[in-house]
Amino acid sequence: MSKSPKKYLVTGGAGYVGSVVAQHLLEAGHAVTVLDDLSTGFREGVPAGAEFIEGRIQDAAKWLDSSYDGVLHFAAYSQVGESVADPEKYWVNNVGGSTALLAAMRDAGVRTLVFSSTAATYGEPVSSPITEADPTAPTSPYGATKLAVDHMITGEAAAHGLAAVSLRYFNVAGAYGSCGERHSPESHLIPLVLQVALGQRASISVYGDDYPTPDGTCVRDYIHVADLAEAHLLALDAATGGEHLICNLGNGNGFSVREVIETVRQVTGHPVPETAAPRRGGDPAVLVASAATARERLGWQPSRADLAGIVTDAWTFARREEPTAP
Ligand SMILES: NC(=O)c1ccc[n+]([C@@H]2O[C@H](COP(=O)([O-])OP(=O)(O)OC[C@H]3O[C@@H](n4cnc5c(N)ncnc54)[C@H](O)[C@@H]3O)[C@@H](O)[C@H]2O)c1
Repeated sequence: MSKSPKKYLVTGGAGYVGSVVAQHLLEAGHAVTVLDDLSTGFREGVPAGAEFIEGRIQDAAKWLDSSYDGVLHFAAYSQVGESVADPEKYWVNNVGGSTALLAAMRDAGVRTLVFSSTAATYGEPVSSPITEADPTAPTSPYGATKLAVDHMITGEAAAHGLAAVSLRYFNVAGAYGSCGERHSPESHLIPLVLQVALGQRASISVYGDDYPTPDGTCVRDYIHVADLAEAHLLALDAATGGEHLICNLGNGNGFSVREVIETVRQVTGHPVPETAAPRRGGDPAVLVASAATARERLGWQPSRADLAGIVTDAWTFARREEPTAP
């Protein structure tokens, strides 16, 4: 963790992951400014103690100046299905916005960046667990836009000395105090299953049960959002001028869709009915991270890898969000 207090710009800090990281930065004694256009985030999600600017990363030059020590860049659209239907929306916002942000950083002399990349940059894995040396072949425009930004950052570090770390998250889950997950529409498995437990949806769809996995359902690597946040603070310390470090972030353990549903049943006491549905195109059977680079280069050690604990924290947050929760 950083020893002396610093000042950071957090783009997308009204969203799920950005708000949790902003909260961790504040708890570590740093000054935080959140820049968010509230397109998918929530004003009340911005942690108390952070300055808030309602604005777009495309206009970052208006606010970024040399008083900032670095930028943590979460702002993006991140719905895979939407990106397939409306790819230009993703290229304009994710790539266009990041281009403007990098230019603003260069002009202001802000030379440290931590970027939210994603497992979706890899596409269909060639081996498991996935390492950063594996080929990147995204299967959606969303993944392609995040990979394009990674390439931009690599060039920026080489040409202009940026100190940059891209963290490739696998499946982020859980909550941290009043900061939790509420995407609309929701596409992530744990909050969707919790919606069944809250009575907000009748059943959970299981897309394919004939995959080559132990119970036939897809296996994913769930990482607690607070463990993820700690990696961001470590990444700020590890960032080195002229280098673009890329680290996968996951627990290295996979849980199947059925294991997640069963864990939600145990945590909530709700029967959670399932509905069988056909496979979705582009869903790999297994997506599990090798986090060896994050351990070696960042000194990162996840401490909340237990699925029941992750689901319990997400359930506490979901009930807080829902006034009529049982
Ligand atoms: N949640 C996950 O499991 C996951 C996994 C891999 C990668 N990621 C990446 O992590 C980041 C955060 O994801 P999240 O789940 O918190 O999403 P989120 O939608 O909750 O947060 C994104 C935030 O960015 C803001 N935003 C979007 N475009 C903007 C713009 N042009 N200018 C200013 N603000 C803008 C939104 O209003 C929102 O508050 C994203 O970059 C996403 O691609 C998330």
